[in-house]
Amino acid sequence: MKITKQYICQSCGSIHMKWNGKCEQCNEWNSLIEESTNKSAGPLSRTKGKVINFELLNAETKDHPRLKTNLEEMDRVMGGGFVLGSATLIGGDPGIGKSTLLLQLTGYFSKINQNCLYISGEESLSQVKMRSDRLGLKNTNIQFASSTNANDIAHTIKTINKKSILIIDSIQTMYLPQIESAPGTVSQVRACANELIIAAKASDSILILIGHVTKDGSIAGPRILEHMVDTVLYFEGDNHFQYRVLRSIKNRFGPTNEIGVFEMLSNGLKQIINPSELFLSDRKKNVSGSAIFAGLEGTRPILIEVQALVTPSTLPSPRRTIVGWDIARLSMLCAVLEARCKIHLSNMDIFLNIAGGLKISEPAADLAVAAALISSVRNIPLSFSTVYFGEVGLTGEIRKVPQPELRIKEAYKLGFDKITLPSKQKVTIKEDLSYINITLLSDLVNLITKNV
Ligand code: TYD
Ligand code: MG
Repeated sequence: MKITKQYICQSCGSIHMKWNGKCEQCNEWNSLIEESTNKSAGPLSRTKGKVINFELLNAETKDHPRLKTNLEEMDRVMGGGFVLGSATLIGGDPGIGKSTLLLQLTGYFSKINQNCLYISGEESLSQVKMRSDRLGLKNTNIQFASSTNANDIAHTIKTINKKSILIIDSIQTMYLPQIESAPGTVSQVRACANELIIAAKASDSILILIGHVTKDGSIAGPRILEHMVDTVLYFEGDNHFQYRVLRSIKNRFGPTNEIGVFEMLSNGLKQIINPSELFLSDRKKNVSGSAIFAGLEGTRPILIEVQALVTPSTLPSPRRTIVGWDIARLSMLCAVLEARCKIHLSNMDIFLNIAGGLKISEPAADLAVAAALISSVRNIPLSFSTVYFGEVGLTGEIRKVPQPELRIKEAYKLGFDKITLPSKQKVTIKEDLSYINITLLSDLVNLITKNV
């Protein structure tokens, strides 16, 4: 067996023979770490293979059995509950509430008589016990172990050989003794996850891995992990806000980009069934710079307040401060407003905020952001009962967006009666709504200036 040294990028997982300050694959600085590998286990080993079996693709198979939780928001994100024999990765910043969410879930699963095993490499029994008391999980049968050896854990899972709910908190603390690198490195994380997934799938168990997230937002190092598991969820939110958003990034058993909204209270996470109501609850009447965007997260419509503040700047390069939206998108929108609508923003400071701590990435938000900017720069409050959606193109044209009906229905449900939308958008909902069709961004400027 020949042990060789290699340098593996902790960001993208690419392998280099020499150390370098920058990874040539992903351009990340200082991400190469020396890890030793076992050459004989590589592709060059000359072991003989076995013949594999084929089966008919359209032969009858059973549906994936699912286990529902007591949280509707969680089930939606998972596409209708956890699939037995699946592996899920939950990533998020430290302190966002991953351990809390999973302890709450195991609390429920143990109440419905599932075998729940919670393995922590980060916290001791007394720490987890304190949290479970806080969550009111006194009479449950959750079994807890503090361990970081993935070999032992996989062996135990195989020995128990019973359908279980397995929580690994967190995958970065796990290690396999046969691999030399430190816990948390790409080799360790990949090998440990592989070992645990195989062991869990053999007993048709539900495996949930907790993963930490790096500064740039990817699950630390192991982007490779995302390929190994069936479902990847991100738990997002700002530590200063109570609200947390659980988002599916990948799901082999359901739609992606679904969101579930939770609130962190002193006794754990509470689901929020109607987030639109919550995000709009602090809205003020008759103030300029506030527009309501009828957005869509996955299959769920959600109304969000976009706030803009445009003020004359004293700086040589004016400030652009954004919370919850994309800076490149804002620059584009400012350029279009400047070039096509004669709204001068180049000597103005712009502050843009998506209220409630939500991050939006839909281009459909362009129209609402533009409305908020125009309203602020002209100091004209927008109508309190109007929602906006539409994508802005570089020529100033307003483009169609997906699923207008879902957005309109949500707006109607929450008492909005004016819908500002792209003129090409076909909608069939009659109700007592008035539609304001916009062809060009300059139409929106005229509309707001005439105070409609
Ligand atoms: P935790 O689940 O430990 O976060 P993670 O596992 O993602 O690192 O939760 C962290 C925060 O949540 C911590 O700052 C305390 C707070 N918290 C509450 O506000 N209420 C609660 O009931 C619990 C258990 C935690
Ligand atoms: Mg934790």
